[in-house]
Amino acid sequence: MRRIKPLSEDLIRKIAAGEVVERPANVLKELIENAIDAGSDRIDIFIEKGGKRLIQVVDNGEGIHPDDMLDCVKRYTTSKISSEDDLYSISSYGFRGEALYSISSVSKFSIVSRPEDLSVGKELYIEGGVFRSFTETGAPVGTKVRVKDIFFNTPVRKKFLKSERTEFVHCLKTFINYAVVNTDIHFRLYHNGRELMNLPPSDLKKRITYIYPELSGRLLELDYTDETGRIYGYISTDERFKKEGIVYVNKRPVKNRELRKIIKSLISEKFYVLFIELPPYFVDHNVHPAKIEVKFKNDTAVKNLVREGLKALETPFKKGVTFDYTVSQRKGSYGKEKVFDLLGQVENTFIVVYYDGDIYLIDQHVVHERINYEILMEDLREDGFIKRKILNRNITHSISELEKALIEDKKGTLERSGFSFDIDGYNLVIKEIPVFVSEDQALDIFFRILMDEDAETVDYVIGEIACKLSVKSGDILSDEKAKLILKRWFETDSPNLCPHGRPVYYKVSIDDVKKAIGRG
Ligand SMILES: Nc1ncnc2c1ncn2[C@@H]1O[C@H](COP(=O)(O)OP(=O)(O)OP(=O)(O)O)[C@@H](O)[C@H]1O
Ligand SMILES: [Mg+2]
Repeated sequence: MRRIKPLSEDLIRKIAAGEVVERPANVLKELIENAIDAGSDRIDIFIEKGGKRLIQVVDNGEGIHPDDMLDCVKRYTTSKISSEDDLYSISSYGFRGEALYSISSVSKFSIVSRPEDLSVGKELYIEGGVFRSFTETGAPVGTKVRVKDIFFNTPVRKKFLKSERTEFVHCLKTFINYAVVNTDIHFRLYHNGRELMNLPPSDLKKRITYIYPELSGRLLELDYTDETGRIYGYISTDERFKKEGIVYVNKRPVKNRELRKIIKSLISEKFYVLFIELPPYFVDHNVHPAKIEVKFKNDTAVKNLVREGLKALETPFKKGVTFDYTVSQRKGSYGKEKVFDLLGQVENTFIVVYYDGDIYLIDQHVVHERINYEILMEDLREDGFIKRKILNRNITHSISELEKALIEDKKGTLERSGFSFDIDGYNLVIKEIPVFVSEDQALDIFFRILMDEDAETVDYVIGEIACKLSVKSGDILSDEKAKLILKRWFETDSPNLCPHGRPVYYKVSIDDVKKAIGRG
């Protein structure tokens, strides 16, 4: 077992320290990472009240030497790195020696640990950063960390916590991030005493479909290597499956906008789980204390790897980065004063219009969303609720234990949104759906409302429905359709913004163009 040591002053200056624990999911992330770093092959996670009351992670890893127990909660003490060189070849999740220190100072924190070669364990209890007890105790091999009543000693931070469900959804996303990639570990997740997930060791594809059963048979495999590294993983072929994709760099889930943008431009909105493997010296994880951001030694090389990897994918939705530009002059006139020239559609995304000295690039999805939103809101104002229609045949969909729990938790919102349904064992039976929604969109909208943490208000739900009913970026519009959208757009109350606050168009003044090129 590696022993815990303080980092040198020099190294402390070099690490991106200063972690702030903001919510239960941050705690869960750190505890799962520690359990994995300890070489465990079994990890059980118990959450109560969305993690606000309890987060407990139990592993069967190498444990902590009893003489090191008091050090594990000190700041900048770690068993994972000891020299600056280690910082450039990190293979563990942790390296700052900071997580347990931060967590134990804002909770009622206990850690029980027993290495294999000892017959008893030790338990350390700390409350709000204050030492309470350190005792011997019977314990299985491994480590159990209990974090109770997060922020009990910092009421202001506690106030910023969201509802139990929202905090739980954050925890769940964190759990999934790590469960997807660590396939040789048996994970179990419990919420409020109920087992929600039980993931025995398996291969990657199986693990993904265990977590998302609806993707089975609907995944494309990717595996591509170039001189920089390797990219592999799975992409969903199911357009209706709406969840944010996950990108890992050297097994660490990361946020990197530019990579996401590239991925989206090549496979549009589909769900993906992609792994990028690069030599350790190529990647700097030491950018942000939570280590979710990364820097690459050579950005362009990584972008190329991703781009080429995705292009190599033989997919039914392979869409090059071609520039579609159709120009024709078609005059349209709607209302008394509005006369415009419809110039065409660019990149199957923007409707291009000339009107009164300006060229408008109108985002076809955003504008349509605005139109649909206003129509739906108008109906809502008239009736006070979202109208339902009865289905000829019920929609039946099998659900996991986890989804069942979430549905029960969010029943009220789903019903207010125009759905009526029953749960029959592990089947969701939908009987009525919002009147504007077609039958084949119903499930997708239902699950969007279910999984989205912001989906509490009718406004929001209407926004989602409006989004769903609207043309998408990538849809080719006929002249007639484009003109109809423009006509309706002129009739909206707030033509400039979409329901989520995004601008509908960008305009370029022809006068400015003339000035810029020295004419006039
Ligand atoms: N579940 C565990 N099993 C075995 N050892 C553990 C476990 N959790 C923590 N430790 C020990 O306690 C030390 C401190 O943990 P902590 O999470 O605070 O820091 P770290 O993992 O080293 O770095 P980071 O702050 O980046 O997470 C670890 O280096 C490790 O030696
Ligand atoms: Mg750690």
